[in-house]
Amino acid sequence: MRSPTQPSPLAGTKQRLISVLQGEALWPPPVWLMRQAGRYLPEYREVRASVSGFLELCYTPALAAEVTLQPIRRYGFDAAILFSDILVIPDALGQRVRFLEGEGPRLDPIGSESELARLDLAATDEKFSRVYETVQRLRQDLPRETALIGFCGAPWTVATYMVGGEGSSDQAAARSLAYRDPQTFARLIDIVTAASIDYLDGQVRAGADALQIFDSWAGNLPDGEFANWVVAPTRRIVAELQRRHPQTPIIGFPRGAGANAESYVRATEVEGLGCDTATPLRQMRALADQTGVAVQGNLDPLLLAAGGPQLDARVRGTLAAMRGAPFIFNLGHGIVPHTPPEHVARLVELVRSTTTGA
Ligand code: CP3
Repeated sequence: MRSPTQPSPLAGTKQRLISVLQGEALWPPPVWLMRQAGRYLPEYREVRASVSGFLELCYTPALAAEVTLQPIRRYGFDAAILFSDILVIPDALGQRVRFLEGEGPRLDPIGSESELARLDLAATDEKFSRVYETVQRLRQDLPRETALIGFCGAPWTVATYMVGGEGSSDQAAARSLAYRDPQTFARLIDIVTAASIDYLDGQVRAGADALQIFDSWAGNLPDGEFANWVVAPTRRIVAELQRRHPQTPIIGFPRGAGANAESYVRATEVEGLGCDTATPLRQMRALADQTGVAVQGNLDPLLLAAGGPQLDARVRGTLAAMRGAPFIFNLGHGIVPHTPPEHVARLVELVRSTTTGA
């Protein structure tokens, strides 16, 4: 531990991502991309092929740190995002999680009080500590000006996988359980919320400079359920992290929130709002202007994969619409595996060379 009299190793280095999350409108804006480490990079595929499973990669600090650094070396993004997965929390709680090649995650689904009772909050540290070691290595190896983003999934989104046992486009299993047995569902949300607070706290103590909460499936809930299962647990996480680590800003990403985005920002008190691909630029701008939140997004990952003059035009249009607001350039969802790496280089060049915003 550092003593309070020693200067922080980061003293004097103001990270651009952090300035924007504190409300500054920096130009050109900082840029990083969701899933910037991943299968579109040949160097990632090489490391991935050296391990037997995806979770093994997440739990091997030297390799997880290496794949986190790969896109930073190539593109010099303003932020690195810890390489891990939102399903580390159910795995650490003792639910069986597997990643099937080409098919995505599979979990032994939880549908009853007795299945819920098997989850063990006290067991999480064994797996979480490997992730914290990755964070420590990264904070040492990254350039000081590159912010390190820690993350977790939001309780609602994580619960959709825990109850459904796999990804689905309508989250029917979790929505049904929440209607049929709201008490059991609330207990599940409480366990995931408590684990998420521990997990994010550990990441900040290990060196994360900012945090993002991924709520990928926030968009399918009626307003009462949105308030109960998306806003309330996220508010609990944000409030507790802000109490413990007031210097560490938090970005919420309630994908699909649509008309609920403003109430999400006001109620959760996140410092940053990740906006999905369908959010109109004028709404993103209005959210920043009206609530003071820093907005992040929202280029379509499929446009990045397609490239060409349409990509250039949309990047320029986004920059023009957001100039003067606290804005972080990003995608509206994660990079898709067939994205040519040179399109990412082009995107970064366009963002960095913006001067007039026109
Ligand atoms: O962004 C980054 O570079 C950091 C790492 C990161 C991963 N997953 C790595 C990953 C992050 C932040 C995530 C978040 C995540 N994981 C979300 C929320 C964001 C979103 O995309 O909506 C969700 C829903 C998951 C759960 C998950 N993990 C799914 C559904 C899948 C399978 C789909 C797929 O793309 O294969 C994963 C696997 C996964 N997580 C991969 C990576 C790089 C690919 C697995 C591999 O390399 O074999």
